[in-house]
Amino acid sequence: MEYRPDLKDIVREKYGEIAQRSTSSSCCGPGCGCSGDTVMADAYTGLDGYVAEADLGLGCGIPTDGAGIMPGDVVLDLGSGAGNDVFVARRLVGDTGKVIGVDFTPAMIEKAEVNRRKLGYENVEFRLGDIEELPVESGSVNVVISNCVLNLVPDKLKAFQQIFRVLKPGGHFSISDIVVSAPLPPALRSVAELYAGCVSGAVTRNEYIRLIESTGFRNIKILKEKQITIPEEDLRTLISSAELEAYYSSGARIESITVAGEKPE
Ligand SMILES: C[S@@+](CC[C@H](N)C(=O)[O-])C[C@H]1O[C@@H](n2cnc3c(N)ncnc32)[C@H](O)[C@@H]1O
Repeated sequence: MEYRPDLKDIVREKYGEIAQRSTSSSCCGPGCGCSGDTVMADAYTGLDGYVAEADLGLGCGIPTDGAGIMPGDVVLDLGSGAGNDVFVARRLVGDTGKVIGVDFTPAMIEKAEVNRRKLGYENVEFRLGDIEELPVESGSVNVVISNCVLNLVPDKLKAFQQIFRVLKPGGHFSISDIVVSAPLPPALRSVAELYAGCVSGAVTRNEYIRLIESTGFRNIKILKEKQITIPEEDLRTLISSAELEAYYSSGARIESITVAGEKPE
């Protein structure tokens, strides 16, 4: 979707509603994650540190997997939602580290904070803020993680520049996100519901990697990838049959990737 000033409001409103329900969705419409009949979300059950109340089924990978998080690290989770990846990271950093979650939806921060208090973690902090202007000190973080969020951020270059800024020299990131193999047809890109659902804000994989490289990151690797299929009945509620045909014949595929990169020493 072309940049519109109200995009962030649309996203905040959708995730505010999700936070106020106990699970992300009873159906599996186009959206990040989707618990139940999972479209994008990976299964977390069984992971050390997993907290069921924090899992709203909104992710599209497991960014802590292969993130090299060490005891004592400071970890930052971008778009932390109800805290799903924060609590997994907390298990990895232990009592001597710290995990900060940033999200711009007040209801998500409240939900995450309720979860934190139940767990009694003193070294976990949730901050209300925008990824494009992170409320985090420069050069203070060992590892940045994020799960299915940057596709929702209109200025992705600014987001990667903020990640670069807050990382310590030699620090690194592991980010799960949605990308597309080729640009989506205009009809799909202009549907607000698909933007908030992690589809139409996604850039191509090549563009995503180019943004990361141009920010100055090194040693960029794709750790995991999988193809995402949005159920046709969901797409039919949002676009016409002709537009659906145009999408299928465009050959564009929606993919989830987990990508890692390092800030040079
Ligand atoms: C798809 S959900 C993922 C939540 C969480 N990472 C998870 O896997 O459960 C996207 C989250 O990113 C947040 N978000 C989207 N754009 C943001 C931005 N520009 N700054 C901060 N948070 C943002 C939303 O409020 C929402 O909680």
